[in-house]
Amino acid sequence: AGMTALDYGYGNTASCRSAITYIDGDAGILRYRGYPIEQLAEKSTFLETSYLLIYGELPTQSELDSFTNKIRRHTLLHEDLKRFFDGFPRDAHPMPVLSSAVSALSTFYQDSLDPFDQEAVELSTVRLLAKVPTIAAYAYKKSVGQPFLYPDNSLGLVENFLRMTFGFPAEPYEVDPVFVKALDTLLILHADHEQNCSTSTVRMVGSSQANLFASISAGVNALFGPLHGGANQAVLEMLQRIEREFEGDVDKFVERVKNKEDKSARLMGFGHRVYKNYDPRAKIIKQQADEILKGLGVNDPLLDIAMRLEERALADDYFIERKLYPNVDFYTGVIYRAMGFPTRMFTVLFALGRLPGWIAHRREMINDPTTRIGRPRQLYVGATKRDYVEMSAR
Ligand code: CMC
Repeated sequence: AGMTALDYGYGNTASCRSAITYIDGDAGILRYRGYPIEQLAEKSTFLETSYLLIYGELPTQSELDSFTNKIRRHTLLHEDLKRFFDGFPRDAHPMPVLSSAVSALSTFYQDSLDPFDQEAVELSTVRLLAKVPTIAAYAYKKSVGQPFLYPDNSLGLVENFLRMTFGFPAEPYEVDPVFVKALDTLLILHADHEQNCSTSTVRMVGSSQANLFASISAGVNALFGPLHGGANQAVLEMLQRIEREFEGDVDKFVERVKNKEDKSARLMGFGHRVYKNYDPRAKIIKQQADEILKGLGVNDPLLDIAMRLEERALADDYFIERKLYPNVDFYTGVIYRAMGFPTRMFTVLFALGRLPGWIAHRREMINDPTTRIGRPRQLYVGATKRDYVEMSAR
């Protein structure tokens, strides 16, 4: 008692117990509810994986059907909430638009805010899963000045999102199934990652017994930062910079990173707090990047730069010594670009994927009797006691 352990950035401190996601960073293992990520990526769907994360078990067919139908019935945004989008500047980044709209859900759905009321939590869960894709699509439409589309509830979640994003009113929207499957798989790979920065934020805010919408909107804001979900946007900007400014010379860029010439010049999409051998998500995504680009008929020089950059870094002592490997964000940007998403939407796609994980953690902690309000201690390094100095004497 009386002793406070100091652990910068919580590198070595568990803040809770959890039965949702298992990571072994040395072995490169990631499992949701015990199921290896490789198997889920190959065989599951995003909605099924969301169910698994939130409820703990894979659904039966009738459980999945009922879950899917519930979500379908809630995809519309209130017309007043739709008007929020008019208030943002046209060049607004879609992440703060997303977090603001999610935060505003607390005002539209005051009937589902009580975190201890199971039915209310259930309703907020469904509302979030259904409405966040609509919000995300509208954030995109707003940024390109195109009209919003109402959801088409005959479509699956991912297809509906793509139609609301890339479709036009009164025009049929044909979507390539390769595209739908690829995005669905990417969402599965992003769906949870135990106590990362945004999930810890969701838990921290939730620990004060704030409602689900408030907790999730805080998570979206945490994800926006370039060291976390914002890394996928930063990776693409880095690859473009290497193409333009460095004329594709990855050596020159890597040397610059190693010399730490400018603070922002990290190798984005590399390194991870937990994975010190490889990131299993990155492994799956790299395999897919090539296939997906071929499937979509896209030939992107940035994919070539990314591959050469990875190869160059992995052979360099600087990266070997520090155990820095490509993470989930390294190859996703190239794929999102091939799908036609502007760079600024990349982190929104991460948020769409991470949503079920955030919800699962928020729900788990409410039912866990060991949950207490998050309240870290500090090491005080400020002034010792001193007496107030009158203005005239300063
Ligand atoms: N490029 C160059 N050097 C790096 C990088 C990098 N990407 N990452 C870490 N290092 C160096 C760092 O400079 C330090 O070196 P030194 O000991 O000489 O000062 C050493 O490696 C340890 O770094 P750290 O910052 O203490 O590591 P961390 O565990 O606190 O940070 C990280 C983890 C992911 C924030 C960091 O690796 C990073 O900034 N990576 C780039 C951003 C990125 O790709 N983020 C996405 C993470 S995965 C998905 C997600 O969470 O959203």
